[in-house]
Amino acid sequence: STVYVPADSSAVAVGADAVAEALGSLEDVTVVRTGSRGMLWLEPLVEVETPAGRVGYPNVTPGVVAGLVAEGLLSGVAVGASIGVVDEYPWLARQHRVSFARVGVIAPTDIAAYEEHGGWAGLRRALVMEPAEVVEELAASGLRGRGGAGFPTGIKWRTVLQTSADLKFVCCNLDEGDSGTFADRMLAEGDPFTLIEGMLVAAHAVGAREGYIYCRSEYPAAAATLRRAIDVAYAHGWLGDRIQGSDLSFDLFVRLGAGAYICGEETSMLESLEGRRGEVRAKPPIPAIEGLFGRPTVVNNVLTFAAVPMILADGGAAYAALGSGRSRGTQVFQLAGNVRQGGIVETDFGISLRDLVEDYGGGTVTGRPVRAVQVGGPLGAYLPATDLDVPMDYEALLEVGGMLGHGGVVVWDDTFDAARMARFAMEFCAKESCGKCTPCRIGSQRGVETIDRIIAGTERERNLLLLDDLCTTMTKGSLCAMGGLTPMPVQSAIRHFAEDFDRRTS
Ligand code: NAI
Ligand code: SF4
Repeated sequence: STVYVPADSSAVAVGADAVAEALGSLEDVTVVRTGSRGMLWLEPLVEVETPAGRVGYPNVTPGVVAGLVAEGLLSGVAVGASIGVVDEYPWLARQHRVSFARVGVIAPTDIAAYEEHGGWAGLRRALVMEPAEVVEELAASGLRGRGGAGFPTGIKWRTVLQTSADLKFVCCNLDEGDSGTFADRMLAEGDPFTLIEGMLVAAHAVGAREGYIYCRSEYPAAAATLRRAIDVAYAHGWLGDRIQGSDLSFDLFVRLGAGAYICGEETSMLESLEGRRGEVRAKPPIPAIEGLFGRPTVVNNVLTFAAVPMILADGGAAYAALGSGRSRGTQVFQLAGNVRQGGIVETDFGISLRDLVEDYGGGTVTGRPVRAVQVGGPLGAYLPATDLDVPMDYEALLEVGGMLGHGGVVVWDDTFDAARMARFAMEFCAKESCGKCTPCRIGSQRGVETIDRIIAGTERERNLLLLDDLCTTMTKGSLCAMGGLTPMPVQSAIRHFAEDFDRRTS
């Protein structure tokens, strides 16, 4: 029989390697290591090939392998704690997996499996199109940058295409620094060819012949998988000179970041790629015009590139048909924090936050009521339970004073302490500030001190006013989103959970 065991870091962290070893030692068993399906509470999730489809066994340990086999694990019928056919498991079946369609299904660097599951179709179509037509297909899809800012990808690529230069670059941002986010990593570990394909389409669309994937050093498995995938792609003529006999030539490299959150900001990332300290550059010029080594550069997040192959394969209109408002296509949400069922939920835009937290998430692990949800990473707003009906799209979240960011959703129960979390936001900014501009470098330090005084009950009203003033200065005066967005968690915490800032005055 063929048995699938995830090799994703999340599964390995809970013992998947030992499970794979135990299964591999059995006679007539072929173990295939895959990415993770993203149902993290079920890991290690072992899947067994059966005539009905792949049947899943959750939370397998080496100790239970023998028992499951004795019960008939390999016989093709679901036994014991099986969740049945994985593709029909409601949590997964309800999703609309586009970018994540192959993650957890195929062995990450099996290029034949990639092709069998629809891989390269988008690039093949792109290669017979003019670059400008590819850009227009992207524009028609309505795809917006999934790193967080939501800038229209078609416009960004058009800018690079229309800027003439001797050299152009395509760079992928895999410096996934937001707390509670893991989709970039899981895509890179689980289906790296999708990322490579998306970058190749970009290269053809803008006329670039060299690319870099900037991967954070905290993701060693993602970097290793990508490097393996790149070697395989070269060996099969999907990278290098005259790709598949076309006019496109493209070389791709992985570079490791060195542990600074700010290197996820695109200009800082470019500085780091050039071998300098990761410090933010003033914009303009935007990277699309003067990016890596001063040349026009496409800089996109992993998830943006991962959406591209489907857009080219099925057409921009098919992608644009999904979603809500000006948020087209699907979003890969990452459910984390105090939820029973955390993981990857890829759905069309427009699903409510409540569906994500209560339906997919299954409520809190602690069983206590949800009090706050932070959407969009550590710089995103803390939303109260009364905002749970907000539809998840870029504009709707702005309307409730939040942001979608990179799609991270972190849940807290009623033990949430807003004052402590507001302090944490300022402290995080103080630690991660690149130091280039004063509102962020100094403002965040003063922010921590001011919140400490509020918590201590020292001149509370005056310090709250001071904090508000400081937040305005940081929002308006910071050079980049680090200092500019730190006030969002702070002010949302005060706005929605004012009592937490009052509690300590007595
Ligand atoms: P931004 O709005 O300045 O830029 C967005 C993108 O559009 C950039 O790539 C920029 O170069 C490009 N762009 C802007 N005008 C353009 C034009 N006329 N032509 C072509 N390209 C153009 O936002 P920024 O500072 O890059 O990102 C901020 C966002 O990053 C935040 O909203 C936050 O959600 C997100 N973020 C994500 C993190 C993660 O780990 N993924 C971490 C921290 C923040
Ligand atoms: Fe650097 Fe902070 Fe200024 Fe951004 S806002 S440029 S991180 S000091």
